[in-house]
Amino acid sequence: MVSFKSSTRTIPETARIPRHVAIIMDGNGRWAKKRFLPRIAGHSRGVETVREAVRYCLGHGIGYLTLFAFSSENWRRPADEVSLLMQLFSRALMQEVSELKANGVRLRIVGDLSRFDAPLQTLIRTAEQATAANDKLTLTVAANYGGRWDIVQAVNRMAAEHSEKQGRWTEDDLAPYLAMNHAPEPDLFIRTGGEERISNFLLWQLAYAEFYFTATLWPEFDSKAFDLAVASYQKRERRFGRVSEQLAADADGTVAGADRPADAKRHA
Ligand code: IPE
Ligand code: IPE
Ligand code: MG
Repeated sequence: MVSFKSSTRTIPETARIPRHVAIIMDGNGRWAKKRFLPRIAGHSRGVETVREAVRYCLGHGIGYLTLFAFSSENWRRPADEVSLLMQLFSRALMQEVSELKANGVRLRIVGDLSRFDAPLQTLIRTAEQATAANDKLTLTVAANYGGRWDIVQAVNRMAAEHSEKQGRWTEDDLAPYLAMNHAPEPDLFIRTGGEERISNFLLWQLAYAEFYFTATLWPEFDSKAFDLAVASYQKRERRFGRVSEQLAADADGTVAGADRPADAKRHA
């Protein structure tokens, strides 16, 4: 398996176009309410926005798109909304796979899938298998996902498989067990709908992501809105703990980026 570098262990290379964008798609319910429609109509419209966001990433060379579709806390919603969301998820999986396949998109679903009924679990596995060989864009959908669940499941699996290291586990030991081990860390985090919180999304993986919040509701998050988020990202200075002057020197090629004290000595 390819392993991706950790932003806290090595300073990542950055580019103008974010390599990985992670989005909390929020505001479907409010979009529907404004139009006197049932909440589920907002979720249906939201699926169209997902299609548009996938097209945007394919067109702009963004290699990884991760979307928060259903959180581990969303089971607290009224039962009828939860059940309609599950139906919508199943339908989207059935309808979209051939198009994803044709467009070179690899689909991954992350989260505690054991809570879903058996037919939905089968649909998920089939969709992942059908698109596994694609490499233009990795689309990850987080479903029954929670950042704390992710860390705890990873710790449990790591501890079971590496009991010999008891008390000496490192970040690098844990990383392969996290749900997003198939992707680099997100560069850009977007939340639509106006709330400024991460609602238990990728707690570990967002360590050095740039955050972008917009009041635009998810069903209205079109390619122009996506452009604004990317433009904001392009203005950020990603220091990863260093100071501005070091970045400027790095760009001149006069100083190599030092990671940890040991590396600093090596470069001196
Ligand atoms: C996000 O939209 C979609 C899901 C959480 C499934 P919401 O349903 O949270 O929409 P608002 O926040 O009520 O407008
Ligand atoms: C977060 O949205 C989860 C998803 C978008 C799937 P919520 O709308 O559920 O978040 P809170 O409850 O407002 O924090
Ligand atoms: Mg919401």
